[in-house]
Amino acid sequence: MKKICLITGGSRGIGLEIAKGLAAQGHQVYITSRTPVDVPHLTHMLLDVTQQVSIEQLAQNFPEQRLDVLVNNAGIMPDYDLDIEHTPFDTITQLLETNVRGPFAVTQALLPFLKKSDDARVINMSSDLGAMAQVSDPYSKFDAIDAPSYRVSKAALNMTSLVFAKQFRNTNIQVCSCSPGWCRTGLNEHDDFTHKAPNSATQGADTPIWLALEAEQINGQFFYQRQPIAW
Ligand SMILES: NC(=O)c1ccc[n+]([C@@H]2O[C@H](COP(=O)([O-])OP(=O)(O)OC[C@H]3O[C@@H](n4cnc5c(N)ncnc54)[C@H](OP(=O)(O)O)[C@@H]3O)[C@@H](O)[C@H]2O)c1
Repeated sequence: MKKICLITGGSRGIGLEIAKGLAAQGHQVYITSRTPVDVPHLTHMLLDVTQQVSIEQLAQNFPEQRLDVLVNNAGIMPDYDLDIEHTPFDTITQLLETNVRGPFAVTQALLPFLKKSDDARVINMSSDLGAMAQVSDPYSKFDAIDAPSYRVSKAALNMTSLVFAKQFRNTNIQVCSCSPGWCRTGLNEHDDFTHKAPNSATQGADTPIWLALEAEQINGQFFYQRQPIAW
């Protein structure tokens, strides 16, 4: 059956690859971003996830009766090279507004459409950097990266997945988190991070596409490379 999908932050990077992958399998795909883009086979809608009015307009103007797949992918990481002592107050606010309040409020606003699906999936794009199991392990593979506010925001996004998963347990709506792995995208264009990142954006899109279309029980879990991982 043709699924109706919406990918936030679908204008570039991993979000665009998720959208293209879903559209290539014949599904109806809407992408959102603050900057308009024109991509064949995808329908663009403007959305700033930090603005309540913008989220309300998206829900009001969404031209479908139902929504089957919502990927909360829009995200930022402006603090890649900041330790705690150099993190500005505004950076903490900006990260929480974009990476946590945004996905929470977008999902909330689109619930009437998700409730009309027989098999709705909400996939929150998180990160290994937000995994408490990893940040508490000095031998974890990303221990050298600071990004303290980004880590806090993705941990809070994981809790967002869990509270939605709890409320909608045993309904038609499943909610999960997903790490795409370290990918070569605009998020990593600072320093030489882009060159160090082992994965393409297309590789990062593989697990979210699998979660959207193929995986069976995903509610309340955190996935990486098609496997559940520790929070
Ligand atoms: N790349 C990695 O290595 C990596 C690793 C782990 C997790 N992730 C996560 O994967 C997701 C996608 O990352 P990416 O690497 O593909 O990033 P990217 O290439 O920088 O793309 C980010 C997307 O988010 C949109 N966006 C940013 N702020 C927004 C806002 N306020 N409102 C609406 N849209 C906004 C951008 O569009 P506009 O600027 O036009 O709005 C763009 O489409 C993020 O959540 C990121 O944290 C990435």
